[in-house]
Amino acid sequence: MINAKLLQLVVNASNDGIVVAEQEGDDNILIYVNPAFERLTGYHSDDILYQDCRFLQAGDREQAGLAAIRQAVKDNRPCRQIIRNYRKDGSPFWNELSITPVFNEGDQLTYYIGIQKDVTEQVEATERVKQLEAEVAELQAELAKLRG
Ligand SMILES: Cc1cc2nc3c(=O)[nH]c(=O)nc-3n(C[C@H](O)[C@H](O)[C@H](O)COP(=O)(O)O)c2cc1C
Repeated sequence: MINAKLLQLVVNASNDGIVVAEQEGDDNILIYVNPAFERLTGYHSDDILYQDCRFLQAGDREQAGLAAIRQAVKDNRPCRQIIRNYRKDGSPFWNELSITPVFNEGDQLTYYIGIQKDVTEQVEATERVKQLEAEVAELQAELAKLRG
């Protein structure tokens, strides 16, 4: 078994956000965030510990991915979704969020580990490709018309 100090070292060194939340009623409150989460979101752990992570949505709640997350958390199932989040300064980013429940038989509580990966570049590139494909299709249709 890896020792606690080494585990802390590697979690602190991760380039992706890693958080641990504890179930409290309908909320899952943060009890740990790693430095990469602080860098990604711009929030210091002191600002946000004991809050549910939904503050990162900043009111942008009509997202299909969120319904899937809500249901998975309710059913204690793992899930992975790409959602829009907002940093402390209000700037948006695409968050590939992976959530896994962890059952601690010792204290009979359910914890969750969340991993946040910034996939803004990939999502924007995919959107751009779709847009360009649509433009090419339009131009091809016009060309076909001109050729008669
Ligand atoms: C461990 C964990 C990490 C989470 N991380 C994020 C996150 O980074 N960004 C986010 O928008 N929601 C995150 N959530 C999801 C929200 O806490 C919440 O489950 C989601 O908004 C759906 O529930 P709601 O409709 O009650 O808000 C996380 C949830 C858990 C359990």
